[in-house]
Amino acid sequence: MEIIITDTAYDTANDAASRISTFINNKPNSLLCFAAGETPLCVFTILIDLQKKNHVDLSSVYYVGLDEWEGLSQDTKGSCYQVMSDNFYTVAGIPSSRIKRWNGICVSPEDELNDVYQYIIAHGGIDLALLGIGMNGHIGFNEPFTGLPKKCIRVKLDKTTQSVSKKYFDIPTKVSYGLSIGAGELKNSQKIILMATGIHKADIVKSTIELPNDISIPSSLLTDHQNISLLLDKDAASKFSL
Ligand code: PGA
Repeated sequence: MEIIITDTAYDTANDAASRISTFINNKPNSLLCFAAGETPLCVFTILIDLQKKNHVDLSSVYYVGLDEWEGLSQDTKGSCYQVMSDNFYTVAGIPSSRIKRWNGICVSPEDELNDVYQYIIAHGGIDLALLGIGMNGHIGFNEPFTGLPKKCIRVKLDKTTQSVSKKYFDIPTKVSYGLSIGAGELKNSQKIILMATGIHKADIVKSTIELPNDISIPSSLLTDHQNISLLLDKDAASKFSL
């Protein structure tokens, strides 16, 4: 695994954005999957800036949502789709025909999981996944002990995830289950960019690196991918030893 450590969270985001824009320029019409978490938000801002300067056409590729809170509509403030729409899709002017979004208020989660999975298959798999490491190591809603499911999954949310979720919502919102692309399917991506920034992520970054393939740490299950880059700022990288 390539590990890149930069001085600041902005530098980490800048590195990720530069890699993504090069990827898009080299492979238009590819399928990208961007995490809707807090960590990649700055990457979106920089990508949009690169597009304004005509360095990349963000509408030349397709996007599939990584995950969604079950029970939240796409319009709910704090839903994964709303975070993506407000911070990336709408600002970047991505046509809806280029986006596969989750419906968190679907009548049948089973059909919804299959629908997103079929979209991925129809595009020949995910070409590039931009992922953030959660406080418990979760990747999307692949929680500790979820393993490496190959398709899309409905997951009972870990206590840490339920607690961390509060940062996304203006009003108290109970979330119990998540819908997500499975970690096994993410691991089939041609390229993975995994990010963590901030001192609060230093312990989980240490575990991710020092305990590879530990089922209690979802991020550690990705580290033996053949084309993965782990991008860290110096705070997130402050506790592990290589
Ligand atoms: P999370 O994602 O916020 O859902 O835990 C990780 C991150 O982007 O910080």
